[in-house]
Amino acid sequence: MKKILFAASECVPFIKTGGLADVVGSLPKYFNKEEYDVRVMLPKYLCIKEELRSQMKYVTHFYTDFYWRNQYVGILEMEYQGVKFYFIDSEFYFGGPWPYSNMYEDIEKFSFFSKAVLSSLPLIGFRPDIIHCHDWQTGLIPVYLNDSFQGDPFFWGIKTIFTIHNLKFQGTWDVNTIRNVTGLSDYYFTSDKLESYNNGNLLKGGLVYADKITTVSNSYAEEIKMPFYGEGLDGLLRARSNSLSGIVNGIDYNFYNPETDADIEANYNIKTVFDQKPKNKEALQKELGLEVNPNAFMIGIVSRLTDQKGFDLIDCVIEQICSEDVQLVVLGTGEARYENLFRFYANKYPDRVSASIFYSEALSHRIYASCDAFLMPSLFEPCGLSQLMSLRYGTLPIVRETGGLRDTVQPYNEIDGSGTGFSFANYNAHEMLGIINYAKKVYYTDRKAWDKMVVAAMEKDFSWNTAARTYEKLYDELLGSNFPIDVDAEKEEKEAK
Ligand code: ADP
Ligand code: GLC
Repeated sequence: MKKILFAASECVPFIKTGGLADVVGSLPKYFNKEEYDVRVMLPKYLCIKEELRSQMKYVTHFYTDFYWRNQYVGILEMEYQGVKFYFIDSEFYFGGPWPYSNMYEDIEKFSFFSKAVLSSLPLIGFRPDIIHCHDWQTGLIPVYLNDSFQGDPFFWGIKTIFTIHNLKFQGTWDVNTIRNVTGLSDYYFTSDKLESYNNGNLLKGGLVYADKITTVSNSYAEEIKMPFYGEGLDGLLRARSNSLSGIVNGIDYNFYNPETDADIEANYNIKTVFDQKPKNKEALQKELGLEVNPNAFMIGIVSRLTDQKGFDLIDCVIEQICSEDVQLVVLGTGEARYENLFRFYANKYPDRVSASIFYSEALSHRIYASCDAFLMPSLFEPCGLSQLMSLRYGTLPIVRETGGLRDTVQPYNEIDGSGTGFSFANYNAHEMLGIINYAKKVYYTDRKAWDKMVVAAMEKDFSWNTAARTYEKLYDELLGSNFPIDVDAEKEEKEAK
């Protein structure tokens, strides 16, 4: 059995602020359980729903020196949908109302988490062969593993993988503070290690010390080797390109399933989509107070409202997007300027623009199920899950050709009628507007072509089955052909249980 431990800062159903949580919460379910024992370790935030927190069982606790304090570290565990989860308990660090706060506090919090993950391994009866780290919050795990933990033979030979979900967030602060907080020596703060443009950088630690680096689409794996997308680390990623690969995300096809989704008005599948989907549209129009009109071209947006997602383009031409034959349905939270932009237009055109400025899993499903098109004109997009959810529900994505959007949405080809959506190349508002209007034209004047794409979109398979097999291959490659090296130890461990 190959043992893998995921370490991450968020994971459904426990805590979610973005797609990272969907990936960490669903991918582990889809490994071949005969060969891979994949478990997950997370912070035990106080803001996890009580209903879930109360199901966690105490395993043990210990104290550790961290920064200038001696800290309590509790370990809890819980099995959920066949996957074993461990939680690192520290009310001092994880007691806030939200998993993240300001960067300075987060750096301390997640440095603590990274150290606690490693320190707890000898106590939980699970020695991973690979620790699979996700995003900057876990960037120090490969660093610490290479450092003081090498003093204990228990840790010898543990491999690490670092997956980049978003290169923009790096966990940077001044070198002195990071050195003091992490307890790492001067040796680590040079430009070939954790120092980056005069700051300390936790993500960079992960990228330098992990055995393998992956990111969540092939296009993004290429893009980040270039300055425009590289966020200052393109040189390092070029240098490590032999260890870097892209594996496109999937989504949980059991959870995002129009046939069984309890949150939508009318369930449907590929055969019933054209009868049932309009019922969802009508219900959503009623729910949101829009004009009830089956012919309106309904465009959805479900997103963090940040500049990554291309809202500057929308801002520029929103008046033209919101023409009389269009309905725009927005669900999202984020930067005030975008929240207010959509509030303003919802006020101005109450029968055709709706702005839900909050977080709602259930409403997001209704939007995926009800809209005709889904708009995602991102400036950059490591993978993007929303467009995959749209495809699954037969809602055609309109996207910019970047990162995972480029890899997962096949643009409409009017010559042969192929495609699963619409796309444009340059980060340019009028180019986007042109393609929205083109989509609208196809919708209104060639419904046969549109419907053919709806079927093609629903036929696409972006379940985890493909990606999980690719991760398995990567694990195998990393562990080498002689695995398991120590069969006797495995046997002893089993017998001891
Ligand atoms: P990112 O991780 O960059 O935010 P993704 O497309 O990978 O983008 O994932 C976003 C996830 O968060 C999707 O599951 C999307 O449905 C969900 N989401 C974003 N904003 C909201 C919201 N306000 N309400 C409900 N779900 C949301
Ligand atoms: C990040 C990216 C998004 C990706 C998600 C899961 O939040 O912004 O593109 O889908 O991680 O990998």
